[in-house]
Amino acid sequence: MPNAFISGTGYYVPPRVVTNDDLRTQYGIDTTSEWIVQRTGIESRRYAEEGVGSADLAVPAAQMAVKNAGIALTDLDMIVFATLSPEHCFPGSGVYLQQKLGLCDGPNAKFVPALDVRNQCSGFLYGLGTATSMVKSGAAKHVLVVGAETHSAALDLSTRGRAVSSLFGDGAGAVVVSATDVDRGIRSWKLGADGRFADTLSQRIWDIRKRPFIPQSAEGVGQVQPELMFAQMDGKLVFKNAVMRMMEVLMEVCVAEGINGTDIDMFFFHQANLRINQYLQQHLGIPDEKVVHNIQRYGNTTAATIPILMAEAVEQGRLKRGMKCAAIAFGSGFTWGAAIIDW
Ligand SMILES: CC(C)(COP(=O)(O)OP(=O)(O)OC[C@H]1O[C@@H](n2cnc3c(N)ncnc32)[C@H](O)[C@@H]1OP(=O)(O)O)[C@@H](O)C(=O)NCCC(=O)NCCS
Repeated sequence: MPNAFISGTGYYVPPRVVTNDDLRTQYGIDTTSEWIVQRTGIESRRYAEEGVGSADLAVPAAQMAVKNAGIALTDLDMIVFATLSPEHCFPGSGVYLQQKLGLCDGPNAKFVPALDVRNQCSGFLYGLGTATSMVKSGAAKHVLVVGAETHSAALDLSTRGRAVSSLFGDGAGAVVVSATDVDRGIRSWKLGADGRFADTLSQRIWDIRKRPFIPQSAEGVGQVQPELMFAQMDGKLVFKNAVMRMMEVLMEVCVAEGINGTDIDMFFFHQANLRINQYLQQHLGIPDEKVVHNIQRYGNTTAATIPILMAEAVEQGRLKRGMKCAAIAFGSGFTWGAAIIDW
């Protein structure tokens, strides 16, 4: 059975920077930079322009990952696309990305499978686990795993929505998971979910149990109340569970791998809140130089946080071949996951 390793990383964030002060001055939100920084660590985020979607953001990230993997786009055997902000209700963003990468054109078109993953902030790790299994089973040699989000289109950018909208930003990260006979790569990985908290962090824009699934006016026009149109969250409950589950799942993969936290050279924590990660770091006694962050600059980019962290760490020369890494995520569902990777 081959090993599955991350052969290439890439990322892309849209150019428009929106600072905490911009939320106040441009959108009229009653907030302060101090409030946001103190509770979350976020200083700014990126917003894509109208007309740009998650698959568009994923294109440069995917191209960079494929280039860094030293393969051609046509070598890919599968696309796994994790997002909570797909272009449409259906089809998924994976097929749009496939088309935008030119993989449906010309004599080399292979029409590889494209799978969308709907596990929000844990989506990248769910995708990584899926890709690892596909590669190890021999079903695929190179799988593109993308996390991409266009949150800015679906945030309640008003004082009413400030508790959620100040947290999120747009961006895309990508990795290629490839087969190798070398003793390296994605080792133990573990995923979990607790459906009791399905409504604790959710965007219930429609309800398929209702007839019709979105209320209509007399003229047949769909009408959605703001509390259904935009994501709702019990922030304190999310915070508590995030700390608990991320700690647990990290311990589980360490035990499965027979290692201690001190054996890990670099930690990629999902970027939901700098305070969550600082709490974990302190509790586990992890020194600063082993942790990378980007929430200060990008906010929470959901499925994209971990692959962006990885790609930036490679670009900055911090993440090097032979390092032992841990990736840990938690999010809506609740869902969570962790993986140990020998880079
Ligand atoms: C979101 C979070 C920062 C909120 O912090 P908190 O201390 O729990 O704050 P609360 O939601 O209780 O709100 C406290 C007050 O601040 C206000 N507030 C919320 N957002 C604000 C903002 N951006 N600016 C100013 N005030 C804000 C609230 O309206 C509330 O005011 P009130 O007391 O008058 O009602 C925090 O709960 C958190 O980070 N949770 C985890 C969220 C997360 O990680 N989500 C993604 C998971 S993948």
